[in-house]
Amino acid sequence: MKTISIINLKGGCGKTTTAAAMAEILVVRHGKRVILLDNDKQGNASRLYQKYNQSSRRGAPDMIRSRNISGNIMETGIEGLSLIPCNYYMEQAELEILTDPGTRQHDRYREALAQVEGGYDYCIIDNPPDIGMNVVNALSVSQEVIIPINLDNYSIDGLEMLVDQVTSIRRLNPDMELVGCLVTDYERSATSEAAEEWIREHPQFKVFTQHIRHSRQAKDATFYHRSVVAHSPRSGAALDYRRFVDEYLRRAGDGI
Ligand SMILES: Nc1ncnc2c1ncn2[C@@H]1O[C@H](COP(=O)(O)OP(=O)(O)O)[C@@H](O)[C@H]1O
Ligand SMILES: [Mg+2]
Repeated sequence: MKTISIINLKGGCGKTTTAAAMAEILVVRHGKRVILLDNDKQGNASRLYQKYNQSSRRGAPDMIRSRNISGNIMETGIEGLSLIPCNYYMEQAELEILTDPGTRQHDRYREALAQVEGGYDYCIIDNPPDIGMNVVNALSVSQEVIIPINLDNYSIDGLEMLVDQVTSIRRLNPDMELVGCLVTDYERSATSEAAEEWIREHPQFKVFTQHIRHSRQAKDATFYHRSVVAHSPRSGAALDYRRFVDEYLRRAGDGI
């Protein structure tokens, strides 16, 4: 099982949209078995599959507390795609583990996910826009990191710092590497073209050739509790996400 963290410390840059689109494309188009780990207490990925339950501790909060995956996996209704949901209990779980003396804190997800190692081809982790112990856990178990960036909302500010922060986790997990930055929600303008050019000039960001166009359908999709690829497969965003996954698979050497 390959574990991929989708991360950026900014909100609204397309993390959840990317995590869900990538997960569904890997399942539906490439026949992979995928587990989507919602690591954000806001639970947007869980809501997408109508698995958000505000009064249940099951899912990521229980997994980080107990180091156990059993009882925390749900089916999404899409064959081959499972979900570990999240909600505000994550805050409580984080506090509990921080005050749990004498045990290692960063390898809890690693222990839990190891229990389903053979059951899935990919684990995709949808991260929140901050670095708490749950994110340190996610990065500690991830072999790969993808950073979605939105050129219109100051995403470029601090990108270097984010890449440094992410790579500094390599002390905990030397196997982790940045696969690349993905430009999302792209609208053509003089500013976005200049920003895209700037970012592509910096090889350390490993920007994917494919960017994801802004599509109205991407926003509409959340209303119908569907990913953009399921809701509107012919939209620009869905098409771009399919091409992005092809490029990802080529980059990762997995073939297509
Ligand atoms: N390609 C796109 N076109 C239009 N809207 C998009 C696109 N990608 C994301 N969005 C919208 O932008 C908002 C933030 O996206 P989201 O994936 O939730 O970001 P994050 O998880 O980083 O906070 C959502 O309303 C989402 O529907
Ligand atoms: Mg999100």
